[in-house]
Amino acid sequence: MTTRWETADVLQSPMEICWQFAYEIDSDKLKALYSKAKKYQWDADADLDWSLAVDPSRPIMDDEAIGGVMRVPLVTRLAAPQRERLVAHLAAHRLSQFLHGEQGALMTAAALTHAVPDYQGKLYAATQTMDEARHVEVYARYIQKLALVYPMGPALKRIIDLTLTAGQWVKIAIGMNMIVEGLALASFHNMLQATPCALLRKILQGVLRDESRHVAFGALYVGEAIGAMHPDDREDVADFAFQIVDLMRRARRLDAPPDPGFLSVLDQSGIDRTDFFRSVAELSASGERFEQPRDQVHPFKHLMMPALVRVGAVTERARERYKAEGIPVWEDRRTLEQFEQGEYS
Ligand SMILES: [Fe+2]
Ligand SMILES: [Fe+2]
Repeated sequence: MTTRWETADVLQSPMEICWQFAYEIDSDKLKALYSKAKKYQWDADADLDWSLAVDPSRPIMDDEAIGGVMRVPLVTRLAAPQRERLVAHLAAHRLSQFLHGEQGALMTAAALTHAVPDYQGKLYAATQTMDEARHVEVYARYIQKLALVYPMGPALKRIIDLTLTAGQWVKIAIGMNMIVEGLALASFHNMLQATPCALLRKILQGVLRDESRHVAFGALYVGEAIGAMHPDDREDVADFAFQIVDLMRRARRLDAPPDPGFLSVLDQSGIDRTDFFRSVAELSASGERFEQPRDQVHPFKHLMMPALVRVGAVTERARERYKAEGIPVWEDRRTLEQFEQGEYS
């Protein structure tokens, strides 16, 4: 029998831990976020109907929402049943990343609880820890119904590991609350638009409401801390943010090194790996660009980059680095603010 230690992946962390004996509340906004977090705790047992059937043979999202893969010439030529099988596996692969990412969020939120320097921040981070525990729970339970779990992609794992072991709470909040949760917010929102599954819709609505608070916390709390930093420390934080954004962008390219989970999706769907990547190369050579469907939220453009700019995590020096890598520094905050204040919050 395997023990828990044999299946665990253990990291060492140089994390700062901070006691705070001044039990004062000096941020009304943080206090409001904490109150909201307590009020909106939901319970997967009481508030979701797990008897709703999920048909594993039917795609849980439409293929338009899958994105670039469906535009690869070889995929466009597949017969309908094989195409549906591919979509079902891609959706399960995506949901598995949600599940593993939520476990990462659970641990970063716990790390914030012990590392942030003020009392109110600790209380808020504790509510986020509980939120993330519920998110891990609901995705794990939903995925059990699909009976398909894919491993965590190496790029997402690396990004969250770098965040967890960054040592400083500001970097943890940037890596998780602003960058990974920006990606999560966009992915959950886009999945909600694209799934006909009633149970998954209900799960996503609950999770999205919590996530919009998490992103709002990043903006509120990190902004103040960066504003008070020595310029050298601010550059160090901006370099960290750039590193994470750059890793994430590289991983999302269609010609990125293949993730073993994705290769297994191809195998499960009866698609030959070599033929698939040859077809991707042809498409890339043709210069075709993948545009996000109009009604979808783009994680970099609408959420991450405007959030990083707003808190001062994109310095002048960092702008040069983004420019050199061809990453636009988007600054329009309208969608971000809509998420923070709008329908899900
Ligand atoms: Fe979450
Ligand atoms: Fe979260």
